[in-house]
Amino acid sequence: MGQTTVLVGAQWGDEGKGKVIDILTEDAQYVVRYQGGHNAGHTVVIGDEKYVLHLIPSGILHKEKICVIGHGVVIDPKALIEEIEFLKGKGFEVDEVLKVSDKAHVIFPYHCKLDELREVKKKGRIGTTKKGIGPCYADKVARVGIRIADLFDKKYFRSRLNDNIAEKNAILKNLYGADGFSAGVIFDEYMKYGEYLKNYVCDSVNLINEAYCGGKTILFEGAQGTFLDVDYGTYPFVTSSNSTAGGACTGAGIGPSRIDRVLGVVKAYTTRVGEGPFPTEFGPTLMERIREKGGEFGATTGRARRCGWFDSVLVKNSVDINGIDSVIITKLDVLDELETISICTAYKHGGKTYRSIPGIPGFLESCEPVYEEHPGWLSDTSGITFYDRLPVNARKYISRIKELIGTDIMLVSVGKSRGQTMVCKQDKQGGAV
Ligand code: GDP
Ligand code: IMO
Ligand code: MG
Repeated sequence: MGQTTVLVGAQWGDEGKGKVIDILTEDAQYVVRYQGGHNAGHTVVIGDEKYVLHLIPSGILHKEKICVIGHGVVIDPKALIEEIEFLKGKGFEVDEVLKVSDKAHVIFPYHCKLDELREVKKKGRIGTTKKGIGPCYADKVARVGIRIADLFDKKYFRSRLNDNIAEKNAILKNLYGADGFSAGVIFDEYMKYGEYLKNYVCDSVNLINEAYCGGKTILFEGAQGTFLDVDYGTYPFVTSSNSTAGGACTGAGIGPSRIDRVLGVVKAYTTRVGEGPFPTEFGPTLMERIREKGGEFGATTGRARRCGWFDSVLVKNSVDINGIDSVIITKLDVLDELETISICTAYKHGGKTYRSIPGIPGFLESCEPVYEEHPGWLSDTSGITFYDRLPVNARKYISRIKELIGTDIMLVSVGKSRGQTMVCKQDKQGGAV
């Protein structure tokens, strides 16, 4: 049987999953996206070139790796075609290796319009990417969605589209006073997309399970992060899919007993884009400093990311929710110039101390983080490639994170490039040393 790894973001997304997937792809034959859509932006830096993947698995930058977009992903065909064309233009082989699930749901212009209007009009906006992700998943769950395979059945597609557009136009007009869409125009446009994508489309569940039974190594590439998960995240400030490890089962068709390993990616600090609670968020001075040093601007929307201290309560929770076996710490280098570095170890709320997140409404908005302070290492780590060459204070910081979250640290990353990554050395008890 094959070897399978699910890789998830263990914070609020943008942890550096793209970089890590690119490294792990070396030893894999299949890379599979299982949820989300082109709201994701996964950055891979190869030499002087930077690639941002949105829908296509980050494994595409390696030769001869089968890259699958699973049925749990929501696909905007226009965005997918643009990504395919971009990669082909850069000389990457796409036709032989890209596989798209026939059962993935399709994003239509009315999804994007509704996403946009809800963001503008609604009180308590979420700060979505406005890519139509939420409305498309809503249609899937409401059982009115249109799937990739439907594009190849003209009659069925037209009738589903007519029903959807009649409903959406009524909402757009009556609730938002906005213009509606023409079913004919969208039908013609999407028939062309179907024609373009036809050769990539397959029964991905079958493909993945055959690969597994044939002994292949498969990487499942999570998008977003644990606290953006619609069930486990900081609801309602979340995305609309299961970005946690279980999402690989429902979104790619791999059974739980066929998952060998779960890896979590965390930044050495914390970031989040969009609205929602963030207990360890920096004040303005540190925010500016770390945002600049870490280049914390969204890979998809270019929005400035909010930054804060490492929150071990959140990440410990993430380890439990996902069943994370090992963690990869990225962006340690971004902390190089700080004299002291804080880690949040608990929350205070209503006179009580919490080391988990209770279901008290507004808890994360109103709790007070409890910090411990660590001395910084005040030296450049970006050129270090062996763990034991890291400054002692950097190793102590990593060790303390390991202790607080109760899991192995597998790799530490100190820069954007493939080479700026080191294997974390473990002591006899498995602790980072
Ligand atoms: P993803 O969505 O989890 O794949 O992460 P993003 O690509 O959105 O954001 C991570 C950003 O950090 C990208 O610009 C990466 O090139 C960059 N990055 C990844 N690892 C490191 C690191 O160890 N140090 C630094 N300085 N940058 C990193
Ligand atoms: P990757 O895979 C960070 C955030 C949005 C918003 C919320 C809902 O690159 O880590 P949506 O458009 O999904 O309905 O927006 O989720 N968000 C992300 N934040 N990284 C991402 O993806 C994200 N994808 C969505 O900013 O707060
Ligand atoms: Mg990203």
